[in-house]
Amino acid sequence: MKIAFYNTKQYDKTYFDHAILGTSHEIRYLSCHLNKETASLVDGEKVICAFINDTLDADVLTILQQKGVKLIALRSAGFNHVDLECAKNLGLAVVRVPAYSPYSIAEHAVALLLSLNRGIHRAYNRTREGDFSLSNLMGFDLHNKTVGVIGTGKIGQAFIKIMHGFGCKILAHDPYPNEECINLGANYVSLDEIFVQSNIISLHCPLTSDTQHLINQVSLDKMQDGVAIINTSRGKLVDSKAMIQALKKGKVGLLGLDVYEEEETLFFEDLSAQGIQDDVLARLTTFPNVIITSHQGFFTHEAMSNIAKTTLENINQFELDGSIKNGVT
Ligand code: NAI
Repeated sequence: MKIAFYNTKQYDKTYFDHAILGTSHEIRYLSCHLNKETASLVDGEKVICAFINDTLDADVLTILQQKGVKLIALRSAGFNHVDLECAKNLGLAVVRVPAYSPYSIAEHAVALLLSLNRGIHRAYNRTREGDFSLSNLMGFDLHNKTVGVIGTGKIGQAFIKIMHGFGCKILAHDPYPNEECINLGANYVSLDEIFVQSNIISLHCPLTSDTQHLINQVSLDKMQDGVAIINTSRGKLVDSKAMIQALKKGKVGLLGLDVYEEEETLFFEDLSAQGIQDDVLARLTTFPNVIITSHQGFFTHEAMSNIAKTTLENINQFELDGSIKNGVT
């Protein structure tokens, strides 16, 4: 099938060009994001391939349908950026990559936690400047600390496995408790118990109307002073303005973010020559106990290979008999 591939980066091309070998599909790579202005660039393709920072609202979906598109192939697990009801009404099928490597994101969450706790980001800069002092680099043992994990699906489970290896006590919250996590010693408790008892909180639940701003002023007030918070899930789980206040008061001692509320127009691009226009993000970057990465949790060789492979398998299935593999409804 012919595929219009939006928002292409060189690394996408590398992995998709490899995965497409031996198939009958053809990809037309477009560097622009998918939005109302660019949706009309579809030129005979029945499939479009989009990423998490593309726009798939009612306006865009309507243009795509008018251009003859039948299938939206998301090269991501997350689908909160798609107006699914509108897609259904327009007869557009939506498929995604439900799992490509939970380890990639879980390991990135741990990388953020370890770097923050031991001040690796600060030590790296210091030693390059010839500053070998240890002031303000004091960390804490992870052993015996209480880790609260919100969302214990594929990534949450992989994260729990690693933290279990560090000798942490695991508290978990998920509407559907996971047997494997219980076997690793996770104790399922209410959200409030997670907030009150945890030294470290890591978010691994999807963004829904229930979870939007799950970390807000009220929940932050319940937490231990100096709590470490890691968010590799979705930016809107955290109220960033409330987080800034909590950082200023010392309520939050360490903050690792791989995602940010308003990341769509910022992340994945080199904006270093322009300065940060978003004042909330700019403020967050000024704290020495905050590390922000640009949604790179998924960015491992294994994950990228699986994303390309599964996306093309989803398209194969649709071409074969019109059936939907890894559909989102
Ligand atoms: P999953 O679907 O396997 O697990 C999500 C879990 O969250 C499920 O067990 C579900 O029951 C639970 N959940 C749903 N509502 C909840 C609530 N209100 N409170 C607590 N738990 C709730 O998904 P997976 O693969 O583990 O991914 C988790 C999240 O990670 C995704 O939703 C996505 O936002 C994020 N993600 C981030 C990436 C990155 O590069 N930083 C890449 C891939 C995913």
